[in-house]
Amino acid sequence: MNENYLISVEQFNRQSLEDLFNLAKDIKQNPSKYHDALSGKVIATLFYEPSTRTRLSFESAIARLGASNISTENAREFSSASKGETLEDTIRIIAGYSDAIVMRHYEDDSSEKAVKVSNVPIINAGAGKKEHPTQAILDVFTICEKFGTADNISILLGGDLKYGRTSHSLIKMLSLYKNVKLYGLSKPAFALPQEYIDFIHQNGMTYQAFTSFDEVPKDVNVIYHTRIQAERFEGDFGREEFIITQKVLDTFSKDTILLHPLPRCEEILPEVDNDPRAMYFVQAHNGIPTRMALLLKLLGE
Ligand code: NCD
Repeated sequence: MNENYLISVEQFNRQSLEDLFNLAKDIKQNPSKYHDALSGKVIATLFYEPSTRTRLSFESAIARLGASNISTENAREFSSASKGETLEDTIRIIAGYSDAIVMRHYEDDSSEKAVKVSNVPIINAGAGKKEHPTQAILDVFTICEKFGTADNISILLGGDLKYGRTSHSLIKMLSLYKNVKLYGLSKPAFALPQEYIDFIHQNGMTYQAFTSFDEVPKDVNVIYHTRIQAERFEGDFGREEFIITQKVLDTFSKDTILLHPLPRCEEILPEVDNDPRAMYFVQAHNGIPTRMALLLKLLGE
């Protein structure tokens, strides 16, 4: 990552990602070392779509680095977007009020638009159905924390593989690792788009799509489940068919971990929350050290 912004996972190579993870690990172990690291900085969080984890973990990360935060959590309604202001004009203005802008927006190319007009770093906190790079960072960080590396990893991607930006960014980030096997389990209407299947094959990974839990290899290292992104399409999608119950989880290896970017709907039942393989809350909390590390990399020097 040479640029002073983060809009896509494609900006990383293996080395820059590992440097970020090493910093995140140190932050996790010695948080007090970093308490004043960004003091005097003002960081804006500009969210045009709902968020709990991403916005609040960024705001917590900002506070834990000694920086200040200015925020609008519902920019679609509460910013001048509702009066017809363009995203570009909003960014030009907020760039003059802050040292960095963390932005979530419903358009796939919103981060690219923002970077073009901003003279402060832009961090993509979710862009349409295309990218969610800071989620992929914390997802892969969690996988590496558990398995030591994401080389030789096998992952079952479940739920909404069509509209889910977290799966799309995760797939791209995993291409930095060797011998990655990807599996998909979704209703046909939410299957992984061909462009991602092509990307997988062009980048030395493998992909196999399944139609039932029975077909999935039970020694898969990671189950990465996601909710149907109902806000991204018109019409009714029916019910999620692939629900992780304790019975389903018990068919998998004792070393398989269960991740989910959250929020979950019905696809993971709360009855599995206390199973040691259910790691989605640990995963969500890894948003703090990884986002602190990213802010430091972009603003620290
Ligand atoms: C995800 C998102 O916004 O894409 N949430 C998150 O940031 N953890 C996943 C989702 O909304 O389903």
